[in-house]
Amino acid sequence: MKILITACNGQLGVDVTDFFGKTCEVAAYKDVELDITDEQKVFDIVKKERPDVIINTAALTNVDGCETKKELAYKVNRDGAGVMARAAAAGGARLVHISTDYVFDGSSEKAYKETDEPCPKSVYGSSKLEGEKEVQKYEKSFILRTAWLYGPHGNNFVKTMMRLGKENGEAGVVTDQLGNPTSTFELVRIIDTVLKNGEYGIYHATCSGVCSWNEFAREIFRMAGMDVKVNDLTTEQFPRPAKRPAYSNLCKDKLFEVCGYKATDWHDALKEYFDYLKTENNYDK
Ligand SMILES: NC(=O)c1ccc[n+]([C@@H]2O[C@H](COP(=O)([O-])OP(=O)(O)OC[C@H]3O[C@@H](n4cnc5c(N)ncnc54)[C@H](OP(=O)(O)O)[C@@H]3O)[C@@H](O)[C@H]2O)c1
Repeated sequence: MKILITACNGQLGVDVTDFFGKTCEVAAYKDVELDITDEQKVFDIVKKERPDVIINTAALTNVDGCETKKELAYKVNRDGAGVMARAAAAGGARLVHISTDYVFDGSSEKAYKETDEPCPKSVYGSSKLEGEKEVQKYEKSFILRTAWLYGPHGNNFVKTMMRLGKENGEAGVVTDQLGNPTSTFELVRIIDTVLKNGEYGIYHATCSGVCSWNEFAREIFRMAGMDVKVNDLTTEQFPRPAKRPAYSNLCKDKLFEVCGYKATDWHDALKEYFDYLKTENNYDK
């Protein structure tokens, strides 16, 4: 099986490339080598590489930045997704596209299912939802909605907390936004699973278990063995340009029922991440 990967230098892209590179032929393109909004280039590369599968990890992911770069957010997250879907269709490749819990408004009191109505509150969430719609026009596609993603190769909440903990010995973190922390390692396993066992369509693809950012921060410091004071904040006390969902717990029943995959508990995934850093002897990665 040959897999074409976009943004192979992004947080998820690096781990997707590492994982599938062990068992498959991989054609991995960095963001500067393949702009997913450049339709001609994307078509040319798909024609040249002839992949069986395309994994699109490229996106504009700066949630607050998208509020001021609205046009670019839609260009990449909606139009780029459309380009990838049309190119996959032209080349007969299956497409895996990554989306987000931010397509929901977070007003629910129970875990969101794939069939629940999205209602994004930010430009990022809205542009990603439009991207989903573009991808859904192509029937051989999987859309994996993930959340609170962290891994060794990107800027993410875990790294921010580690930095703040080292620099200040304390961090103020919100208690009233709940979601599913998810490692890139876990998301890569889910991508592998849906490719092996899945039917086309939307899947919620996160670790299991739900917590607040504040609880997540406390667990990060506990596992890192760092003595850091975590102060409780409300969203009101920590305003951001983009609105975040208060409750974006994603239900993973479909992943289990269709693919037989039981998502890893977020604590276990976090431990796996720290174990990896220790093995690699690279805490600052
Ligand atoms: N990170 C999270 O917490 C999170 C949560 C939910 C869903 N997701 C989704 O998960 C996927 C992977 O995210 P990630 O965490 O790996 O983000 P990331 O580290 O920002 O990786 C995304 C990559 O896409 C690149 N990119 C931007 N515009 C592009 C274009 N026109 N053509 C090609 N590449 C382009 C980015 O380059 P630049 O850095 O130069 O922009 C970056 O290298 C995305 O679909 C994201 O929406 C992420």
